[in-house]
Amino acid sequence: MHESEASSRTLPTDAQSVTAAFHKLFEGHETAEVRLFRAPGRVNLIGEHTDYNDGFVLPIAINYHSTIAAAARDDSRVRVHTMNRDETLEFDLEDTAKPPRGSWLNYIAGTARGLTEGGIALRGADMVLVSDVPEGGGLSSSAALEVSAGFALLRLAGVEVDLINLARAGQYAEHNYVGTRSGIMDQYIAAMGRENHALLIDCRSLESALVPLDSSKYELLICNTNVKHSLANSEYNTRRAECEKAVELLREALPHITALRDVSIEDFKRHQDLLPDVIKRRARHVVTENERTLETVEALRRNNMKKVGELMYASHVSLRDDYAVSCLELDTLIEIAREHEIVAGARMTGGGFGGCTVNLVRRDTINNTENGGLKSFTENLKREYHLRIKRKTGRELHASIYHAVPSDGVHELFNDVTQ
Ligand code: GLA
Repeated sequence: MHESEASSRTLPTDAQSVTAAFHKLFEGHETAEVRLFRAPGRVNLIGEHTDYNDGFVLPIAINYHSTIAAAARDDSRVRVHTMNRDETLEFDLEDTAKPPRGSWLNYIAGTARGLTEGGIALRGADMVLVSDVPEGGGLSSSAALEVSAGFALLRLAGVEVDLINLARAGQYAEHNYVGTRSGIMDQYIAAMGRENHALLIDCRSLESALVPLDSSKYELLICNTNVKHSLANSEYNTRRAECEKAVELLREALPHITALRDVSIEDFKRHQDLLPDVIKRRARHVVTENERTLETVEALRRNNMKKVGELMYASHVSLRDDYAVSCLELDTLIEIAREHEIVAGARMTGGGFGGCTVNLVRRDTINNTENGGLKSFTENLKREYHLRIKRKTGRELHASIYHAVPSDGVHELFNDVTQ
């Protein structure tokens, strides 16, 4: 997973395997016509369930990618082989019928449709893809797929790429082909992420600002609960509806608002009694999370890791108690992280109901040689997670841990114009 593509012209391993598989599977393309594209997964540092409320998010593109080898065709067919499933499927750019529900092809066919609906003329293509973004882990493996495939189709068609439009096309796929009414965060960061930076995105204006992350001061660890509760999709759409309800009810006192983004903490406190209990708690999460996200940016700019950590823990509590999207496994990982001084802050990341936590580990407390403290933390975390989940539920469950490195958004490999 850790590659050194930046420092050499040697193909990263995943790019080598998609290229080799491409030549094996698809005949009739000159070697020089085969191009390589990749888009990253993401971890969200803070700003959870705020994107579809027109609010603020602070995600980071990570060093796990969807990588694609692709070449244009002379017709409108798109043939895609995924090495993760060893399966080849295809669709036609001119055919409006959708792939069967649940098929992974929806991510790609949906993004292509999102682009063509916007008036962009695409060409058919042959593609081989492989992804090392853990699936179902809340690290946006689907956005990585949408953005890498959409980017490949745009580049192969010789179209100038508007990255925000590409992100919107990925979101179109989620809404119209996959059936999740997701916000724009995942596709936006997969398109626009930057090495060594987090990205503060204003999900209303779609403007963003890079926020430098000083990797000499912290280490980002992602811990995967390795569970995904089946509630995830339906509850996501329910939360969105609850937020819309909150806006509708608050409008009685605040007629100017169109989204929870427009409600300040003071406004909320003053008018919260207009809301029934559940809706009140959902709205309180969103209103306070927007504030925490902006405060985190300030604290990062001042290198105040302690403050960043406190805001992350507070975000987790709000997601757990008010927004009700956490679960026993996520809470257990946070409970263990809190017991370690080495962790400045931790929280669930992504939609919730399983998936991952993001942990901000302080380098000044990591033992001097070879991350001794870090190693004992990760070992302890794995051991304790297994023990506590077994004790609480009787199940055998093991956590996975990834070292996240803030990375670039979508790009073409070895094309000097874009690198
Ligand atoms: C999922 C969605 C995002 C966002 C997060 C929660 O990842 O795809 O748009 O809403 O959940 O912050």
